[in-house]
Amino acid sequence: MFKKLQQKWGVNGINMVLIITTFALGGSACARVAGLILKLSSLEKNSIWWIIYILLVTILWPICVILISFPLGQFKFFKNYLFRIWSKMSGKASENNSKNAKITKKQTKIAIFASGKGSNADNIISYFKLNQKADVALIVSDNAAAGVLDVAEKNNIPVMVLSKEDRLNYASCIKHLSKNEIDFIVLAGYLKKIPASLISQYPDKIINIHPALLPKYGGKGMYGANVHRAVIENKEKESGITIHFVDEVYDHGKIIFQEKCEIENGETIESLAKKIHILEYKHFPQVIANVIQKQNQR
Ligand code: GRF
Repeated sequence: MFKKLQQKWGVNGINMVLIITTFALGGSACARVAGLILKLSSLEKNSIWWIIYILLVTILWPICVILISFPLGQFKFFKNYLFRIWSKMSGKASENNSKNAKITKKQTKIAIFASGKGSNADNIISYFKLNQKADVALIVSDNAAAGVLDVAEKNNIPVMVLSKEDRLNYASCIKHLSKNEIDFIVLAGYLKKIPASLISQYPDKIINIHPALLPKYGGKGMYGANVHRAVIENKEKESGITIHFVDEVYDHGKIIFQEKCEIENGETIESLAKKIHILEYKHFPQVIANVIQKQNQR
């Protein structure tokens, strides 16, 4: 459960401990303050007392966790966390989740291209359910058995599976993207090369995530375990993620963002892949949102 939460929230072990500590301290602080307020009011401990106590705790809890999150360095997490709760309570999230949710004019429509499991796609979809600026409107895959298609189904997102012919020149894909009014493309574990014909339709609007610190360990055949194996075999001290614009050369376009992680003694391909995924879940959606926001401001 601990691991799952860590993945969902996109945080490392230390931050996870600090977040749980903030929850615990915030909970006991608000219960204490509510008790003290009622003590001062000298109300009798009857059912009204309990109703007021519960109301006070509910109001004080967000204030307490936010205050405690400052010294523990978790303010950003709790600000987002409380915002999500508020969105859910005020119905914004469910409106957004709804299959029939109307997409406003300003919303950027994203297509995610993926060939595999699609855990990044899943994470990006969840993120944009709460971010009104953009919406994941299409999933494209070159693999009819890819897990990302289940992710799309779960989230009621239309899919396009590219056949061999489709991948000869991407003409039908480009048509489909335009029919779905796609403005922005995110490659999240897409293994095929993006042709010039598609890049020219989406200048600076296609970004990719690579599970290493480019320009090292990029290029044809450098994906998934191959990357991590090469990094470990070369006895690198660190690896990380790179988010970059896509050009006609594999893993080559302008770098937008990088984040590092340490390679520890005895690091395995699996353990490194896990570390990289945590970094991806933490940063990729936010970087996509920033790029889209910048471009929309132009
Ligand atoms: C990620 O590690 C990404 O960096 C790479 O492919 C992997 C996709 O993983 N390009 P998932 O399918 O999102 O789980």
